[in-house]
Amino acid sequence: MKGIILAGGAGTRLHPLTIPVSKQLLPVYDKPMIYYPLSTLILADIREVLLITTPNDQPLFQALLGDGSQWGMHYTYAVQEAPRGLAEAFIIGRDFLEGGAAAMVLGDNIFYGRGLGRILREAATLQSGARIFGYPVRDPQRYGIIELDSNGAPLQILEKPSEPRSNLAVPGLYFYDHTVVDIAAGLKPSERGELEITDINNVYLQRGALEVEVLGRGFAWLDAGTPEALLQSSNFVHTIEERQGFKISCVEEVAWRRGFIDNSQFIHLGEKGEGKPYFDYLRRIAAEELSHANYKQY
Ligand code: G1P
Repeated sequence: MKGIILAGGAGTRLHPLTIPVSKQLLPVYDKPMIYYPLSTLILADIREVLLITTPNDQPLFQALLGDGSQWGMHYTYAVQEAPRGLAEAFIIGRDFLEGGAAAMVLGDNIFYGRGLGRILREAATLQSGARIFGYPVRDPQRYGIIELDSNGAPLQILEKPSEPRSNLAVPGLYFYDHTVVDIAAGLKPSERGELEITDINNVYLQRGALEVEVLGRGFAWLDAGTPEALLQSSNFVHTIEERQGFKISCVEEVAWRRGFIDNSQFIHLGEKGEGKPYFDYLRRIAAEELSHANYKQY
């Protein structure tokens, strides 16, 4: 399965921070926001990724991420000319997807939790239909909200309902079969003038082909789209990293652990940044986990 990261949008809720630069390049504690959704796709064993950005910021994303080969991946870049909705990503990505299935993660969505990798890899084996997730939140008016019946089957999904019928938000992480491109192409803009991802999900729901997996206690889903959420995300990442000494969504480490790059490539990445704390971490992890004797051979 191929992956799409949507990192377009004007990020207006973060102005003036996002006047000169895309939200997805802002820091979430010790790394750029885009590293988090990228790590999510790597955990799903997805190597081929389309990065959809604003026209202005495409060169910045390219400077940061290159062609992906340094992490055993392959990146393709495309632009979304204007914020016309999340569903437009599949129209922009039609050629990239080559008629295959797609996972999409939003560039400001952060996922963390034990067992997440297994859940993502299972979702990425999807052959037909769609798999989305549900996550309980206290402010359901801000999200796509899903109502489930007593057996956990989806009843309806509403985009930002003023009177939500459940507290289960749909996070920005979606797994779709190959029909998603035609579904997206057939959508009409909503009242706010956007092609809505919720409308795609409702097409699968009507077909009886929408699976919903609830991520409950023990999982963190954060979206870093407001000043408060951005600070909360940084604080969350900082707290866990400082306590355990492990980084969250360190792309190099995740790519190494999933076998996208081998030991010597991983060590090489760490050695490129000597004296810089982020890269010192890579060297420490490599030295701790590959015995010192083995480390010297690389
Ligand atoms: C979008 C989707 C919404 C989803 C949310 C997740 O909202 O439209 O269904 O729950 O992402 O982050 P936006 O953040 O674009 O308003």
